[in-house]
Amino acid sequence: MNAPAKETLSQAASIPEIESGNLSAPRVQQHSNSKWWMLLPLGGLCCILIAWPTFSKIGANADKDVSHKVGFISGAAMQRKHEQEAPFDIHTPMSPPAGSKIRDVTVAASSVDDGPASGGDMRLDRRAAIFGGLSLAVSAGASAEKKPYDYGLWGVLPVGPYKAKKSGPLETLVPGQVWTIDQKFGILNVQVPVRMTIIKLKGGGLWILNPIAATRELLGMVRELEKEHGPVKHVVLGTLAIEHKTYAGVFAQKFPQATVWLQPGQYDFPVNLPPEWTGFPLGRTKYLPSTSAETPWSDDFDQATLGPFISRDGAYGETAFFHKPTKTLLVTDAVQQVSTEVPKIFLVDEASKKPLLYHSRDGILDKIDPNDMSQLERGWRRIQLFGLYFMPAALDIHSVPQSLKERRPDVNPDFGGIYPWDWVGDDKAAFKALRGDGKDALLVAPILQTLILNRNPVETLDWVDRVCQWNFARVVPAHLQNNIPAGPKAFRRAFTFLEEKGEPAGQPKPRLDDLKTLLDAEVSLTEMGAIAPNPGKVTKTNREAVLAKTTYRCRGGFCSQRSQARQSLRA
Ligand SMILES: [Fe+2]
Repeated sequence: MNAPAKETLSQAASIPEIESGNLSAPRVQQHSNSKWWMLLPLGGLCCILIAWPTFSKIGANADKDVSHKVGFISGAAMQRKHEQEAPFDIHTPMSPPAGSKIRDVTVAASSVDDGPASGGDMRLDRRAAIFGGLSLAVSAGASAEKKPYDYGLWGVLPVGPYKAKKSGPLETLVPGQVWTIDQKFGILNVQVPVRMTIIKLKGGGLWILNPIAATRELLGMVRELEKEHGPVKHVVLGTLAIEHKTYAGVFAQKFPQATVWLQPGQYDFPVNLPPEWTGFPLGRTKYLPSTSAETPWSDDFDQATLGPFISRDGAYGETAFFHKPTKTLLVTDAVQQVSTEVPKIFLVDEASKKPLLYHSRDGILDKIDPNDMSQLERGWRRIQLFGLYFMPAALDIHSVPQSLKERRPDVNPDFGGIYPWDWVGDDKAAFKALRGDGKDALLVAPILQTLILNRNPVETLDWVDRVCQWNFARVVPAHLQNNIPAGPKAFRRAFTFLEEKGEPAGQPKPRLDDLKTLLDAEVSLTEMGAIAPNPGKVTKTNREAVLAKTTYRCRGGFCSQRSQARQSLRA
């Protein structure tokens, strides 16, 4: 069994404790007792990686830092490989972290300063070392990139489609100005698009947000744009999420003339490391300033930073960019839109359809026609439900013995022919709730709604209001639907889950039965101290009260974003 499987099983052992939470919701189907199958979809989406450090802490106290230690070890390996591929500019010192100044802010009673030692346990236990070593060994052993879409460093973040990271067609959103390229990302066939956005600057040259795996195929697409529009000048990592950070340093090494900009609040495990130690170029890596006025791209963009929101074991943060010439809003994970249409990255060739074929089945005996788009769309719908909920209520999960006994590699050979669930509920209704009404409907991922943004509702709404001052007409997130025709009203509606008045009719809203896994996790993680208590929903008049109940942490030179108390007239 390879390294990722070990990690999956390690996390799986903690699931019964997640289930011990006392929040409950009606289920379509009573699940069986064996729950480790829950981890099959659990690794599938960006959402889980946003909270990867937190989830890895669920359960008993032993060996929960494995993923972080692997990340730490892997980061060093990533740096070593690309030291060989591109020279470093070591003459310009790195800018001080933009967020570091907020360490001087007086910390109130509700704050927790983790101090310099809290970046992690310095001890690399034997299991972590073995796990990390195996991961690196697998990666190194397969580092030859014989095909244009091969990515030799896939072991740094060993998720599907592993080494073969094909890139979607270069999509032109605005001719001559805005392009995107997708790859797939996930575990065990719960794969979703992960997106890089390319903007042509007014003064010439390219500005790139959230780079993806730097395969020869991908680099070829970027080089073609460079020929016509000028060199890559800026590489921006606008998030703290690991599924984006993993590829950004490697990509940046391929463009030695570019300046690299990082979301403030970056963290590593078991200890915080300088970005240069985790793959980012020496001498040309900086933290994003809080305003575009402090950047070289102020003529092209406005920007607003959300977070960091620092939890005990991780952090969330991202920066929204408003491309003024094209009225385009670029975000990473803050909002998404589910789609019935299968993303193009799943259709670039027959092999790319595999996740759709796997998840389209109602049960293990179903055979799916790879040329039947309606069946592929069913698979895509279910992948989105898996990725957003981890355990959608429409599933009936089988026990481990039953799943092993019933396996049918002759029907579908993936994972030894194991298909450990049946779709017995109304997954169409579950999907419809997430889709909402209107082409501009935007969804905040359920994990952000239940575990992360609701811990800092005032700060989040302040950021949303700032973003909504821009007159954007298009939203480009880093996952799921691309090029969404949405403006400030739709963006503002997406965050009404943070308000006492709740979501208006037609707004995408997760169903309670589908949320059970996340709501149970919220209870357990809060009790464990891994996430802060929920300070409550926001009303027109309770801003100060919510802020007083909000918890703020500091770690590694950064402190959680903190809004000022003032009388709110929020509608
Ligand atoms: Fe993401």
